[in-house]
Amino acid sequence: MKKRLDKLCSLVDGNIVADIGCDHGYLCEMLVEKGVKEIYACEVTQKNLEKAKNNIVNYVNRKCCNVQQLDNKIIYDGGKVTFVLSDGFKNLQILPDCAIIAGMGGDLILKILFDDVSKLPNTVVLQPNSKVDVVRKTLSNYYEIIEDKVMFDCGKYYNIIKAVKGKDNLSELQILFGKSNLNEMHSEFLDYLKLKKQHALSINNEHYKKLLSQIQKVEELYEKNFRISKN
Ligand SMILES: C[S@@+](CC[C@H](N)C(=O)[O-])C[C@H]1O[C@@H](n2cnc3c(N)ncnc32)[C@H](O)[C@@H]1O
Repeated sequence: MKKRLDKLCSLVDGNIVADIGCDHGYLCEMLVEKGVKEIYACEVTQKNLEKAKNNIVNYVNRKCCNVQQLDNKIIYDGGKVTFVLSDGFKNLQILPDCAIIAGMGGDLILKILFDDVSKLPNTVVLQPNSKVDVVRKTLSNYYEIIEDKVMFDCGKYYNIIKAVKGKDNLSELQILFGKSNLNEMHSEFLDYLKLKKQHALSINNEHYKKLLSQIQKVEELYEKNFRISKN
């Protein structure tokens, strides 16, 4: 989990960052460590917000100087963390430079992000647990995807997407597999693809037949642009 959280944190830009669905608050702790000035730890459940608050307050008390704790925020030298009970962005009074929405289903991430399209953060870092292709496609109407990579951590694959406001024109393969994966053909992506292929081969229906033909196109791209150039 540390590797996934490290990656999410490394993609964050800006001074004002909201972690929507902060749960345990570990990512917010990493944002404190990174030196982000204004952090908003947002949760839809009071229980999880309290959990995040306890963890973050302990962390800040251990690591930071001149700590001042108020009811819904903690201030320290170099920054502050505000705890917000909120369904998505609804109770957030400011527009963050960057929002992280990670560890949820793709549909929920899209619902949270596009609840009010007049208030979109400049940068988003997303990690959908499902429907990654739907997230990419919908995202491309409002954002340009600047990094989109799969990674392996604690026995699972995670797709992590960073995008900035704009538009994108994604090909069918980019929607299915992610731009950076196709551009880089890195080892974690090749392993992920192998797993997808095994799964697709084990199921005999039209959806998986189509997926197999898309995987074959990626394999051909790899053979053409990567394997040959490495020999
Ligand atoms: C599986 S956890 C992921 C936690 C963390 N973001 C991570 O990636 O490790 C999902 C969290 O999102 C919260 N959540 C779900 N729907 C939400 C919403 N509409 N607004 C804010 N938080 C939400 C849940 O309460 C839960 O704590």
